Amino acid sequence: MPSGLVKVTEGTTDLLVPESYCRGGPGTRTGEVFYNKQMEFGRDVSVMFGREVLQEGQRILDGLAASGARGLRMANECGIRADFMLNDRDLRAAVLMKQNAELNSLGHVAVLCRDLRALLAEEQFDYIDVDPFGTPVDFIDSAIMSCRNRGVVAITATDTAPLYGTYAKTCLRRYGALSSRSPFAHETGLRILIGFAVREAAKHDRAVEPLLCYHTDHYFRCHLRIVNGASRADAALRHLGFLFYDAKTLGRKVVESRDKKGTAGPLWLGPIISKELVRRMRATGDLATSARCSRALEVWKEEADMPPMFFLMDELARRTKLAPPRSDEFVEYLREGGAKASRTHFDPKGIKTDLTAAQLMQRYRRFAKRKRS
Ligand SMILES: C[S@@+](CC[C@H](N)C(=O)[O-])C[C@H]1O[C@@H](n2cnc3c(N)ncnc32)[C@H](O)[C@@H]1O
Repeated sequence: MPSGLVKVTEGTTDLLVPESYCRGGPGTRTGEVFYNKQMEFGRDVSVMFGREVLQEGQRILDGLAASGARGLRMANECGIRADFMLNDRDLRAAVLMKQNAELNSLGHVAVLCRDLRALLAEEQFDYIDVDPFGTPVDFIDSAIMSCRNRGVVAITATDTAPLYGTYAKTCLRRYGALSSRSPFAHETGLRILIGFAVREAAKHDRAVEPLLCYHTDHYFRCHLRIVNGASRADAALRHLGFLFYDAKTLGRKVVESRDKKGTAGPLWLGPIISKELVRRMRATGDLATSARCSRALEVWKEEADMPPMFFLMDELARRTKLAPPRSDEFVEYLREGGAKASRTHFDPKGIKTDLTAAQLMQRYRRFAKRKRS
């Protein structure tokens, strides 16, 4: 074992990583090659996604690869013969990913040590993974330009405080969008990030189709299909809008502009999960977090065709002064009454529905009182 390194296993892939690797939370730059154990769920999702979406012979780039964890897992576990490439501008990272490739008998995986933006300016890929420290805004434009027609750009963002609305000014500078604090701020943040990618793509007459976008732990993750065509780009732009949240009535309303305090946007108001795709994805037993993946797939399937934004059981309880029943029971009750309703991955106490806030509160009162008696 090279000194200062330890071996960890994720899925069926072995990785040498620095001894002092991050075991949980967002992780910080330590000066060593970065590896965060907590992100193994996200890498499992990349493997499940890759098994369904990647194709033989494609050019697949893990653009900010660090130890190579994500790209090597995809090369090793997706079962696809393709040109896998790992890149990191840090030479120590490039040396470590080479060792990790050999450790897994993946000598054919190419290792590059370039600035990602320079690499993207020169070459084209079918899949580009952008997993930076903090915000991905520096790389989104170049990744979209370098992506082949109908290819995928997969983005991680860990700059959650600006996107949640805690640092709204930073969000405005970075994403050209206002974030706002609300019970559903995690979803607003994700939709601001997608909206930003949609606008970046539109500049180049390209459209973004969200395939699987989610929030978990301390990060956002988007898998976006990039499609050529000015009219498709225009159609994607039509899914952008602003959202006003009224804490008094709990109302969530799509509005024309961001003039009113409490409005977030521009943000993406279209679908964020392809139901057809998540139906095909499988949480197989060889994944590192297969039970968690299976639960996530169930919820993603449920919420895929629900309207944007969710309600929290706690805000309904506060507003009605009635203790919250179990959210899954309430979802069932709403469905029995003919409404559309589902759980949401954004929050275990969140529910999505096509009812207005007023209609929802009326049903909540009825149900909570019935449960009490
Ligand atoms: C958060 S880490 C990537 C983690 C990795 N994807 C994983 O799953 O473990 C970000 C990496 O991006 C690299 N990096 C930052 N800016 C870069 C740039 N402009 N070009 C290439 N690599 C860069 C850093 O050296 C660092 O290793």
